[in-house]
Amino acid sequence: MQLGHDVLGVDIDAGKIAKLTAGEVPFFEPGLDEVLRRNLDSGRLRFTTSYAEAADFADLHFIGVGTPQKSGEFAADLSQLHAVVDALAPILARPALIVGKSTVPVGTAEQLAERTRSAAPAGDDVEVAWNPEFLREGYAVRDTLTPDRLVVGVDRNRGGRAEATLLDFYACQIAEGVPFLVTNIATAELVKAAANAFLATKISFINAVAEVCDASGADVVELADALGYDARIGRRFLNAGLGFGGGCLPKDIRAFMARAGELGANDVLHLLREVDGINMRRRSTMVEMTREACGGSLLGTRIAVLGAAFKPDSDDVRDSPALNVAGQLQLQGAAVTVFDPKAMENSRRLFPTLVYAADVLEACKGAEAVLVLTEWQEFRELDPEEIGAVVRARTVLDGRNCLDAQRWRSRGWRYHGMGR
Ligand code: UGA
Repeated sequence: MQLGHDVLGVDIDAGKIAKLTAGEVPFFEPGLDEVLRRNLDSGRLRFTTSYAEAADFADLHFIGVGTPQKSGEFAADLSQLHAVVDALAPILARPALIVGKSTVPVGTAEQLAERTRSAAPAGDDVEVAWNPEFLREGYAVRDTLTPDRLVVGVDRNRGGRAEATLLDFYACQIAEGVPFLVTNIATAELVKAAANAFLATKISFINAVAEVCDASGADVVELADALGYDARIGRRFLNAGLGFGGGCLPKDIRAFMARAGELGANDVLHLLREVDGINMRRRSTMVEMTREACGGSLLGTRIAVLGAAFKPDSDDVRDSPALNVAGQLQLQGAAVTVFDPKAMENSRRLFPTLVYAADVLEACKGAEAVLVLTEWQEFRELDPEEIGAVVRARTVLDGRNCLDAQRWRSRGWRYHGMGR
């Protein structure tokens, strides 16, 4: 699908801009390199480090900078967002629409709008709208071109110009049937926080049930399949295991808790505190399971960890449950060797003290337990016989319930899933 816009990408990181200009995507995202090259070749996409060039060029400014967790607290760190607005607003000399895509605490856009209006030479002709981003890593291209819905938050007291501009901007997708929802700005900000909080809650719900499955001999995978047939529940995001990580769900539920607390809406705070707690306990449960599988102590044991990315089809290791578990095992005295198909470089940077292998077999050599902690397709397809030939003990812990338990057991492996 061609959306037909002329786009100028801006970043303060000159290295990133150089790579993008050369047609190189600076991270792993399936299909993005092809989209990048096609648009560079057409001359409709360029990159720059210059805000002045952007202010001069664009009618619409999309801001998609990160809003990470503040260090030592739950709230979101909005400094990157403020930096963009403070650099851009004072040089906006002509009418423009600033559209926030970053995930922010409700109320942020209103503050930014005031900040922008007072700093911009174009004054009241600069408007702010919010258009949250719902794409998933690994599916970024598909989710961008054919999203489930478009949500646009506008200031309804300003005559409808922002709504009309965004209707026009998304005309191709709307014509293809993508729902286009217009709300006030606070609602649009909150839709995103609530969506991620709901997804996180769904995962922690099934993980809490997985604990009951473990205690009662039930199988959480079969249970989730059966639940999922109820259209009101749905099967997606009911995969029990190590829980959620990454640069979004964990920090977004914490920022939502912090903001809800500020607003005195304490029920969300209490609910999400449990969601977060259940999620973090999955990691220690896996460490505990490994310790038990190794006879009660990890000291001096050799453990293979397959998977480092926070989920498959990504090289992102931010708040990765897999690396968190690997780190905890190492702290308890295990020699841990990690392999991931795409995330090795990022893992090495973040966890330089772990040992990294060139492939699965090297990681598993001499291991007393093999842990599958990210469900890459190539791990699902592993041959238990081939791995069995290099390990010291045929013990596999499946942190993502992604292996065929019967197949592994039939080759003499002790198989442990989470909740099955
Ligand atoms: C998430 C949301 O799904 C997107 O809609 C949102 O736009 C994005 O955050 C964001 O805020 O930018 P993403 O972080 O790419 O997307 O990853 P998810 O696919 O949501 O997975 C998050 C974590 O949940 C992963 O660690 C995954 O392994 C885990 N997960 C997912 C489960 O443990 N069980 C499941 O059933 C599904």
